[in-house]
Amino acid sequence: MRFSQGKRTHSMTGPEENLFDVAGACLRETDAVAKARRTARAAARWSEGGLRLSGGGPVLPVDRVGRPPRPELVPPRRLHRRGLGRTEDHAAFIHALAHIEFNAINLAWDAVHRFRGLPRAYYDDWVRVAREEAEHFLALRRRLRAFGHDYGDFPAHDGLWETARATAHDPLARMALVPRVLEARGLDVTPGMIARFRAAGDEETARVLEVILREEVGHVAAGSRWLRHLCAERGLDPEEAFFDLLARRLARAVRCPLHHAARREAGFSERELARLEALCR
Ligand SMILES: [Fe+2]
Ligand SMILES: [Fe+2]
Repeated sequence: MRFSQGKRTHSMTGPEENLFDVAGACLRETDAVAKARRTARAAARWSEGGLRLSGGGPVLPVDRVGRPPRPELVPPRRLHRRGLGRTEDHAAFIHALAHIEFNAINLAWDAVHRFRGLPRAYYDDWVRVAREEAEHFLALRRRLRAFGHDYGDFPAHDGLWETARATAHDPLARMALVPRVLEARGLDVTPGMIARFRAAGDEETARVLEVILREEVGHVAAGSRWLRHLCAERGLDPEEAFFDLLARRLARAVRCPLHHAARREAGFSERELARLEALCR
């Protein structure tokens, strides 16, 4: 017999579905808006205690992640310049940001689905990140629609997912390189983008980016927290592990100036900031 009175029933019988399969279903979803909505539902179920942390089917190959047929993925050099002069350019810029958030939904679910056996708090963090990325995507898509466009209308590049592929074997490498390099780069550049949208008279997009910047600090902080946790388990120094991985995989992705205040809040030490700045020279 099945009961469906929500949370209290779960505590008597235990939830039936597990988080890993639900994360896999969010990953496989190909429609962008459906993915964002499914993500919101999954995150709500997780926070109500409606999903188990045990069991789970096989892990999806990293290239089987669902994405819509459009946008067309092209090499970065074929992309639109991110100007704000003409309406088309303005929309293309918002589209590029929406595409980053779309990938970020997949990246957060991949961190949940692929890496099993971590503490519950790890899954709390990355389910929350998935939920926030879905909100960021939908908010930017609304801005895109205000300019007469939709997600898929402009080409995009696949850089974020390449790092997902390169780190699919190890949560430590994932935490170091995705949140602490790629998402952290967002902390550095978002204040300038906010100023540009504001100067172009697009106050609403500027406000969306202010929310995104605030929440992204939390995503990078989650990366710092779990990098430290995984390093402690393996007896590694987190700073050395981070700079080793960076040197091997993504040294060219480090650009300055860094947003010191946001990065400090997200778990970067003064020494790490100084070492990152030395890499920019
Ligand atoms: Fe985001
Ligand atoms: Fe993020």
